[in-house]
Amino acid sequence: MEKILERIEGELKKAFLACGYEERFAKAVLSNRPDLCEYQCNGAMAAAKAYRKKPMEIAAQVVENLGEGEVFSLCQAVMPGFINLKLDEGFMADYLNRMAVDGRLGLERQKEPKTIVVDYGGPNVAKPLHVGHLRSAVIGESIKRMGLALGHRMVGDIHLGDWGLQMGLIIEELRDRKPDLPYFDEGFEGNYPEESPFTISELEEIYPTASLKAKFKAEDARKAGMAEEEVAKREAESAAFAERAHLATRKLQEGYKPFMAIWQHIMRVSRADLEKNYRNLNVFFELWKGESDAQKYIPGLIEDLKAKGLAYESQGALVVDIGQPGDSKELPPCIVQKSDGAALYATSDLGTILEREKELHPDAYIYIADKRQELHFTQVFRVAKKAGFVAPDKPMSFLGFGTMNGKDGKPFKTRDGGVMRLEHLMDDINQAGYQRIMENRTATEEEARNTAKIVGLAALKYGDLSNQAAKDYIFDIDRFVSFEGNTGPYILYTIVRIKSILNKDKEQGKDAGKGLILPAASDGEKELMLEIARYNDVMESAFEEKAPHKLCQYIYDLSNDFNRFYHDTKILSEEDLGKRKSYIRLITLAKDVLCACIQVLGFEAPERM
Ligand code: ARG
Repeated sequence: MEKILERIEGELKKAFLACGYEERFAKAVLSNRPDLCEYQCNGAMAAAKAYRKKPMEIAAQVVENLGEGEVFSLCQAVMPGFINLKLDEGFMADYLNRMAVDGRLGLERQKEPKTIVVDYGGPNVAKPLHVGHLRSAVIGESIKRMGLALGHRMVGDIHLGDWGLQMGLIIEELRDRKPDLPYFDEGFEGNYPEESPFTISELEEIYPTASLKAKFKAEDARKAGMAEEEVAKREAESAAFAERAHLATRKLQEGYKPFMAIWQHIMRVSRADLEKNYRNLNVFFELWKGESDAQKYIPGLIEDLKAKGLAYESQGALVVDIGQPGDSKELPPCIVQKSDGAALYATSDLGTILEREKELHPDAYIYIADKRQELHFTQVFRVAKKAGFVAPDKPMSFLGFGTMNGKDGKPFKTRDGGVMRLEHLMDDINQAGYQRIMENRTATEEEARNTAKIVGLAALKYGDLSNQAAKDYIFDIDRFVSFEGNTGPYILYTIVRIKSILNKDKEQGKDAGKGLILPAASDGEKELMLEIARYNDVMESAFEEKAPHKLCQYIYDLSNDFNRFYHDTKILSEEDLGKRKSYIRLITLAKDVLCACIQVLGFEAPERM
């Protein structure tokens, strides 16, 4: 459906043209004086400069031409040249009635749907998922769902970190623990076992142990009073272990069969666990590709970069300059190969781009990662375009997010100062949600537990998404699970409240035959209608700007408008059946819009809470 704002601007354009002014001045915005009007046009001010007239004169002319036809109930020129607008109640009711039967709640279907790759999640295999990966998953999923809601083909790719040094560390730690495994027997000629040599909980313990082992901190040990002789011994052991891990990584990357077999096990065991964790977060990926999939493109791309004269040697490494005219500061070149011939993070990303171009032919790319990776992505995008891997005008964007901090303003940690595991964080928030529900209601234990999961997820995701992604935010569990204020549970509470009214209406058996939404009879009702009608506009701009927080702000406003309306209006005790049906239809639409938005944000509402 045509957006309300487009319709308003359509009317304004006609009027500007009729008065002999260019239509580019016919821009409308939401009013910043809601006490005076609903929308406003400030174009007379700009036009005044272009036509050397008084703004007020232009505004008055335009207003005269606008008339009060079908769309507006008020058009007014006010000093120094604003055009204040209110929408006609009948027009609004008609718009909402069309939304109610539209099936897409007024969202326009894409005339040319785009294929858009969303690279998000990005966990590192065999390292436990921690809160740092939470933001990427939560934000990425919502951006993907916005695109889907608008009718694009969205391809979410988890882009696993599955090819790094962590693999070598695990392999060598496994060797130390279980030296008799066939993978470590060079003479072994049979088939490697189907069954994994470790469970997920062992694997999760193997990696951190190995990682510590490889970086023995002599200084710390000395401080803790370790004898110098022991320090020297441990240091040498640690260095030897690290060396082995590097070698194992190299061998794996060269395709050494026994290590490939271990790698397969690591991948299978981790993937099952990751899938479970992401499912609990209501996050799903279309593709489970990883850095390992990019490797086969790397030799070719290095050759290509050399052949095109882009890659050159610098201090033994192979680098590509990425500076462009207009850069405000000098950007370091992108290193594509280390002096020992190893590929790097950037090289993997370039290989991945080649694969995506070949297999998916995307129209655009969106990457979601910690904002500290901004330079990395600038380098990758520029090399990809310079080398012609990606067409120069194809949008490649990076959405960098800030840090999730604790109440002390420092990166979020567990009580004992460790890195918080995502599962534990979810347990904590579910528990807080559970307590909140038990305070309020007499639900059965089982119902309360189930509801707590739904509410907890909403609290967590809304707590994150309602902030502008690039900003750091404070993870405040008590605030997030509160049923009041700008929180996920408040939105759910509003939806549940509407559902309960609708159920009662059904029980009273008065819903026979659907009514129509009637023109608003009060200011509160009108405000609710105006807000509902903005849905298509908000969804489009939130997606364009990759700004889930705008969608959150919208549902918060909409919830407030509903609750005010509910407070001031007798719905179920309304005796005029036509009015009552109109109310029911209106709040059903409010609920449908709220539910569509939370679906896009990646959470859902319970039946009761
Ligand atoms: N695995 C990376 C990390 O944990 C994030 C991956 C982001 N995506 C990408 N295509 N580089 O930092």
